[in-house]
Amino acid sequence: MSQTKAAEHSIVRDIALAPEGHLKIDWVQAHMPVLNRIRKQFEAEQPFKGLKVAISLHLEAKTAYLAKVVQAGGADVTITGSNPLSTQDDVCAALVEDGITVYAKYNPEPEEYKQLLLRTLETKPDLIIDDGGDLISILHSERPDLREQVRGGAEETTTGILRLKAMEKDGTLQFPMVAVNDAFCKYLFDNRYGTGQSVWDGINRTTNLVVAGKTVVVVGYGWCGKGVAMRAKGLGANVVVTEIDAIKAVEAYMDGFTVLPMSEAARAGDIFVTVTGNRDVIRGEHYDVMKDGAILSNAGHFDVEVNKPELEARAQNVHTVRKNIEEYKLKDGRSIYLLAEGRLVNLAAGDGHPAEIMDMTFALQALSLKYVNEHYERIGSKVVNVPYELDEQVARFKLESLGISIDTLSAEQQSYLASWQEH
Ligand SMILES: NC(=O)c1ccc[n+]([C@@H]2O[C@H](COP(=O)([O-])OP(=O)(O)OC[C@H]3O[C@@H](n4cnc5c(N)ncnc54)[C@H](O)[C@@H]3O)[C@@H](O)[C@H]2O)c1
Repeated sequence: MSQTKAAEHSIVRDIALAPEGHLKIDWVQAHMPVLNRIRKQFEAEQPFKGLKVAISLHLEAKTAYLAKVVQAGGADVTITGSNPLSTQDDVCAALVEDGITVYAKYNPEPEEYKQLLLRTLETKPDLIIDDGGDLISILHSERPDLREQVRGGAEETTTGILRLKAMEKDGTLQFPMVAVNDAFCKYLFDNRYGTGQSVWDGINRTTNLVVAGKTVVVVGYGWCGKGVAMRAKGLGANVVVTEIDAIKAVEAYMDGFTVLPMSEAARAGDIFVTVTGNRDVIRGEHYDVMKDGAILSNAGHFDVEVNKPELEARAQNVHTVRKNIEEYKLKDGRSIYLLAEGRLVNLAAGDGHPAEIMDMTFALQALSLKYVNEHYERIGSKVVNVPYELDEQVARFKLESLGISIDTLSAEQQSYLASWQEH
């Protein structure tokens, strides 16, 4: 789409913010070698020629660059946010100048947020990239008339895949979706090292307080939780993990962390990070026993992990004490601080994962979108994994960009591994 047409259609905060957005996008592009390589491939092959692609992702610079790569592959791209607080207005403005239609603003009201998603769907996309499942869910529940045209799509995160699998199970899902989160090159690096680093980046820049010596409670020891706990330990914290899964709890114990039920962890913690994808993991009974000055943050997809209504019900007053920090002054005199309104702290109060991490994740997104476009008729209305060859290709491109070579199997080794005799 031309710049003028994108500008006519888009809804953004302020187009004058574009220069700052371009600088941000240029910086990440210089640190995303795998995606740069895919961009060149797409420019030559034009896999999305004549197609409309709708994207709903945390709308910051790395995402913007993915949108430009998909556009380089011939697509007419429309993009919206995937969380009200993770959209960066300057990046949105820059994308409009690059000919991409944008329906997104930082911190819209809930109804406006939904309208922006609906506007994105009204472009009648052929392919969709979603993060958390809002776009696909609204399409099926509120605009089923627009489903026909959609060939398929790709979903970014754990929570979105859970929702898609529920839709597949009850027969609602009408086209194939690729579960990008479940690829090795996604969860091993993005969920673990990306969330591990960017959560602390968000907490540290927001609070400007020390982590060393404090007790950090990590709620949920999945791929994200492992990264958050690992980096908390590196910063010198005493790390406590809470879990509901016995195997993950043993893993956390063997990794050297204290494992406690939340009722006990609530008393011990100075800083809490929820990362379960579940609701109400910190709630009323926990607030009642927390230390004065406890800091709560969330890194799970939705802002339901820390139960805000039950915190509000205990508060005499609530006020903003620093950007992205709200103090809940409790009736008994204690204060509890909540970061970024309980939304993903690394995105709502930070810039998200490092560019080199998103390079792999978004390379998977780009290749998965091409894959689903080529095979949607054969796949049918299912949630499918990223094919192993694509996963491996991303890892190989990554190694090449790092200048790292690895060994290959000799013919003797291959036959040894494939045989059951004479070991
Ligand atoms: N902040 C980010 O940038 C980012 C990045 C990737 C994923 N996510 C989101 O983070 C969340 C977690 O993702 P993941 O990949 O680690 O998922 P996961 O399934 O690997 O891990 C979640 C863990 O939480 C545990 N859990 C569930 N309910 C619990 C409870 N009540 N108390 C304690 N533990 C509980 C589960 O047993 C599981 O081990 C999802 O919502 C995902 O979408 C966020």
